[in-house]
Amino acid sequence: MSSVVHVGIHASQSPEAVRQDFLRSLRTRQVNHKFHYDSVKQTQKWLALHQAYSPSRTDEDCAATYNASFAGAAERINSSSVHLVGLGCGGGQKDARLLRELQQKGVRVAYTPSDVSVAMVLVAREAALSTIDPQRCHPLVCDLASADDLPAVLAEYNDPAEARLITFFGMIPNFEPQLILPRLAGLLRPNDYLLFSANLAPGRDYAAGVQRILPLYDNALTRDWLMTFLLDLGVEQGDGELRFTVEEDPAGSGLRRVAAYFHFVRPQRVQVDGERFEFKVGEAIRLFFSYRHTPERVRALLGMQGVEVLEEWITKSEEEGVFLCRLRAAR
Ligand SMILES: C[S@@+](CC[C@H](N)C(=O)[O-])C[C@H]1O[C@@H](n2cnc3c(N)ncnc32)[C@H](O)[C@@H]1O
Repeated sequence: MSSVVHVGIHASQSPEAVRQDFLRSLRTRQVNHKFHYDSVKQTQKWLALHQAYSPSRTDEDCAATYNASFAGAAERINSSSVHLVGLGCGGGQKDARLLRELQQKGVRVAYTPSDVSVAMVLVAREAALSTIDPQRCHPLVCDLASADDLPAVLAEYNDPAEARLITFFGMIPNFEPQLILPRLAGLLRPNDYLLFSANLAPGRDYAAGVQRILPLYDNALTRDWLMTFLLDLGVEQGDGELRFTVEEDPAGSGLRRVAAYFHFVRPQRVQVDGERFEFKVGEAIRLFFSYRHTPERVRALLGMQGVEVLEEWITKSEEEGVFLCRLRAAR
């Protein structure tokens, strides 16, 4: 096997595009989530955090729920050849298990792991290589939030004779629904399947459910991972305090999200590319948010985009769900 890996880099992740997004994050005091996965150091920290806290790794029932969804998806896709597109693939462990499930059913598989991070697509590719031929794996670095021509780009990666399954695991929570859902729906072609997971608020009382999961985010590994962004800019731990809170979706969707803000307790100044950013005492910068859904809310939000949930798998804890979807008109 060649020691050279070919990785496609979309213009949305060109150095200039990334620079502009970075400056915008500092100007608006709202950090684009992609900057938490940027460097090899952050990727390593996130992978460690995922390994320690992600229910898909730590909760047997959650892993079984994903496995059931993989078997369900493989059952429904009636094709001898499937191209799996992993959007925001991260380390690609879930995609690798899904590829294995498809292959065990005798399906010929191809894979496009896609993420903003070069390190992540390479890790995801590596995870898939026990199942697929390297020639059938096409890593793509791309920003889903800004790559307007993504439908055409993905079409180039995919042989029209192959069925297409798009995965979007653990991604919905970190995007404003009004931004990401139309994009996701716009990627789907009539015969494509979409398999995605969402973090849920457990129990009947939505607001209480979101409050209940708050401690899941407030731990040393998550703090360490999120603070890397600021520390790498020269901000010091003692310049402020990182606080987690629950807030309503400012866009008025009725959803709630866990958010993390760094509140400055002493003035700090950061300089990037000749632009200076002054943080005053009492000012805060938002580092992160994670929306919590319910199965009903997921169905309603997707329905507004013409996407129908065909089947869903919910963990016993009611904290995570996997949804198999298709464009409504395709049935
Ligand atoms: C929460 S992780 C989910 C990873 C994986 N799908 C899983 O379930 O384990 C989020 C992933 O999305 C990627 N990401 C963040 N912002 C993105 C964007 N705008 N476009 C594409 N990928 C993005 C990150 O690099 C990271 O790998």
